[in-house]
Amino acid sequence: MNGIEIKKDVYWVGVKDWNLKEFHGYTTPYGSTYNSYLIMDEKITLVDGVKHYLAHEQIERIKSLTDFSKIAYIVVNHVEMDHSGSIPELMKLAPQAKIITNNAGKMALEAHFDTTGWQYEIIKTGDSVSIGKRTLTFMTTPMLHWPDSMMTYVKEDKLLLPNDGFGQHYCSGELFFKDAKKDIVLQEAQSYFANILYPYCAQAEKALQTAGDLGLDIEMIAPSHGLIWSGKEEVNLILGLYARWASGQHKGEAIIVYDTMWGATEKLAETAMGVFQDAGIPVRKCCLRFKDVSEIIAHFPDAEYVLIGNPTLNNQLFPRVAGFLTYMKGLAPKGKKGLAFGSYGWKAGVVNQIQEVFEGLGWQTVAPFDEKYTPKSDVLDRFKERVKELIALK
Ligand code: FEO
Repeated sequence: MNGIEIKKDVYWVGVKDWNLKEFHGYTTPYGSTYNSYLIMDEKITLVDGVKHYLAHEQIERIKSLTDFSKIAYIVVNHVEMDHSGSIPELMKLAPQAKIITNNAGKMALEAHFDTTGWQYEIIKTGDSVSIGKRTLTFMTTPMLHWPDSMMTYVKEDKLLLPNDGFGQHYCSGELFFKDAKKDIVLQEAQSYFANILYPYCAQAEKALQTAGDLGLDIEMIAPSHGLIWSGKEEVNLILGLYARWASGQHKGEAIIVYDTMWGATEKLAETAMGVFQDAGIPVRKCCLRFKDVSEIIAHFPDAEYVLIGNPTLNNQLFPRVAGFLTYMKGLAPKGKKGLAFGSYGWKAGVVNQIQEVFEGLGWQTVAPFDEKYTPKSDVLDRFKERVKELIALK
């Protein structure tokens, strides 16, 4: 296994995790990659590690290009273990290498590994390190999405190495977006943003602003997951999408998330779907029995309206609905319009717990709607009016 050149003397030395089916609770139907890059300059520099169980593949690719004793720097853009898992092994092979990271990165490395004897070059935003013909410039992006997260820019190659930013959990034979199935990759880029970066929209907007302030001229973005964005058109495409997702600018769609026991909540969900369809609003109906939480959240950036339906079980939220609410609350999507609905047998009002989550997220809402047992046509008519109230919200 050899390194693959992506720019003159800059090589991909990452690994492909074809069999990855989930990433800390996020379902990854297309697997993932952990990308790492080797810059063959006067001071040979490796950017980012990989997951521990694929370290041997990264090592083999690096060995195809250089002896480990010649590596001067290892840049650690992010310490989450999908990118740092191989670092201890790399440091054993290249003990002379200096780790370039920020203060939070150093602390996180020390909290994860035995770092005895490791040498560091600690950087902050705007700092540069010369590696020969090239200069690396760094931009810390705290909480995008860990305190240690940062990005590396190679001025001479107009190349941004942003680690998690702009990535996708997508594994294929290709390295470049231009060669891949574009619709799927864009969908996975949106899914990645929604499932990983959604709580940190403000930090994402700040990072885009800082990149502008630093005057970074970018012709290639090589993230640490998925495919590489190459050329101004693709760079502008993904930067534009990030600007849209981070700002909360949606596409006016509706998403109905629910579960059902005996079909009552499903009847309400179908009724709501019909109202949106009749109003010409694109709508997606997602039953939690069949759809995974991360698959549903992937569509949230496009949604203006979010409806969550609960079949009351033992006077509580239905467990799959409660699980979805917990996941959604953590990701904290902003600027939605919410309607809580559901059914019950003997205890009304459990839907108020959904309403509280909506209010906690600062969403606009209409009054929650729940009904005892199976909703009859008069109830469905009242529910239609509630959905229309939601659509009418300004
Ligand atoms: Fe890809 Fe935050 O790790």
